[in-house]
Amino acid sequence: MSDSIDLDLCYQTLLELVKQAEELIRNGINSAKEIHLKSCEVDLVTETDQQVEKLLINGLKEKFPNHQFIGEESTADGQKNELTEAPTWIIDPVDGTMNFVHSFPHVCISIALLINKVPEIAIITNPVLGQFFEARKGQGALLNGNKIHVSSVNELSKALLSLEVGTSRDPEKMKVVLKNVNTLVPLAHGIRALGSAALNMAMVAMGASDSYIEFGIHAWDIAAGDLIVREAGGVVIDPAGGEFDVMSRRCLCASSMELAQEIVKHIDQYYPGRD
Ligand code: IPD
Repeated sequence: MSDSIDLDLCYQTLLELVKQAEELIRNGINSAKEIHLKSCEVDLVTETDQQVEKLLINGLKEKFPNHQFIGEESTADGQKNELTEAPTWIIDPVDGTMNFVHSFPHVCISIALLINKVPEIAIITNPVLGQFFEARKGQGALLNGNKIHVSSVNELSKALLSLEVGTSRDPEKMKVVLKNVNTLVPLAHGIRALGSAALNMAMVAMGASDSYIEFGIHAWDIAAGDLIVREAGGVVIDPAGGEFDVMSRRCLCASSMELAQEIVKHIDQYYPGRD
C-alpha cells in the first residue's frame, strides 16, 4: 500500500504541523497548567497535551482524510485501539506529561506513520532542549540533521540502562519493576529514568544509553522510538526475547541483540492488557 502513498508529502505535512506544536510545548512548559487525572493519581493530562494532539490530528486529517489515527488523548481510558493495514498515525502529543507538569525539560512529541503495520516515518522532538530526532524507513536516523548511531556496548556489565516504573501503581507491576531494578543495578554500569519512553528510546538511538526496558507503555509512547532505534542500528524486541509488537505494551530496545538477550535472561516479566 505504501507504493500509492506519497511519503514525502506525509513527511512535509507532518514537519509543518510539528513546528507549530513545538511552540505550544515551549510556551506551556513554564506556565501555569490546567491538570486533569486520567487512569489514576499519577496519570495526568494538561490542556497542552490536548491542544497538541488536536492540532496534529486535525492538520493531518485535512490533508489525508482516509488515514487512521491512534492518539493518546483521543483514546478513552481503557479503550482498545485496533492497528490495521491502513496508513495509521500513532501520536503522543506530550510524552513525559509528568515532566511537563513539573517543568522538568525531558518532554517530547512522539509520532509515527505506519503503513501495513510497518513504521515508515518517525519523529521524536523535544522543543525545550532542542532535540529533533527523525527517521524514515531505510534512510537512517538523525538528531538535528546529523546521522546518529547506537553505542557499541554489547555487555550488560558495561551498559547504561533506562527503566521506568510508568504511570500505574499496580502492585504486581511495581513488584516486577522494582525486582528488575534490584537485579540489574549490580550488573550494569548504571540505571536512569528520563520520564519519557520516547526520549529513553532516543537516548539509545544516539548512543547515550545502551538499553531501555518498560512494561505498561502504550503504542503512542514507543511507535516512533521503534523506527528511530532500528534506523540507528539498534534492536527493539519483546522483553521476553521474542518479536516486538507495538500494541503489546511491552518494550526492550538495545544497542545490540547480544545485549538485549543478555538483559532478557535476568529480568522478570509482566504482561499488561494489550492496547
Ligand atoms: C509516559 C512516559 C513515561 C512512561 C509511561 C508513559 P505520557 O507517557 O512515557 O516515561 O514511564 O509508561 O505512559 O503519559 O507522559 O505520555
